[in-house]
Amino acid sequence: MTIYLDSADRDDVHAAVRLAFVHGITTNPTLMRAVTKDPLEHAKQLLSDTELREFYYQPCGAYGGLVEEAEMAWSLAPDRVILKIPATTAGLTMARSLIDRGIPVALTAAQTPNAMIAAEAAGCVAVIPYVDRALRDHGTDSHLVSALARVRKGGTRIVAASVKNAGQFTQAYLDGADAVTAPLAVLEQVLEHPAALEAERAFAEEYRVEQPIERG
Ligand code: E4P
Repeated sequence: MTIYLDSADRDDVHAAVRLAFVHGITTNPTLMRAVTKDPLEHAKQLLSDTELREFYYQPCGAYGGLVEEAEMAWSLAPDRVILKIPATTAGLTMARSLIDRGIPVALTAAQTPNAMIAAEAAGCVAVIPYVDRALRDHGTDSHLVSALARVRKGGTRIVAASVKNAGQFTQAYLDGADAVTAPLAVLEQVLEHPAALEAERAFAEEYRVEQPIERG
């Protein structure tokens, strides 16, 4: 099981690293635009001042050519950067040209199991289905993740994205996701069950005494 933060915000990234169970981050042009005019420089800083083990970077188009931007992003940290490319026909062509140069690629914004079929044919390392968008915009719902898992024949990973609450987070893993990426607010929610919080509070009360026990 792998968990990623879906954000490019520096404070969120630092908070996620402190959560200890977060493996890395996923970004896209919308998330980058919210925090910087220079996504490559921002990515460079995030990679250098945090211990992110993986960084999913999606070319933003801020510098002209998307392929060139993808290559520059990957060269920031070749052992940690994975390129996100949209799961479209044009996207797949770009993905293939990056894969041919040895750059790992994930097909993102996947809305049908065909993304997995194409990703495996092209040699992508992961497919990123948009769970909430599939539900909200197209009514295709959470079966998207299980359909991707069913058509998969090789080791292509499923990183469920567009995850908006703790229920969708859990469901994605139940449906066969290998990883989930979610905003900080969702990651902070996943273990905050009222009964667990109550148990934690009650345990904390057990030895709360007026005078601490003297030892020795
Ligand atoms: C994932 O990598 C995307 O950044 C993200 O989850 C997109 O979905 P959203 O815009 O619906 O949150």
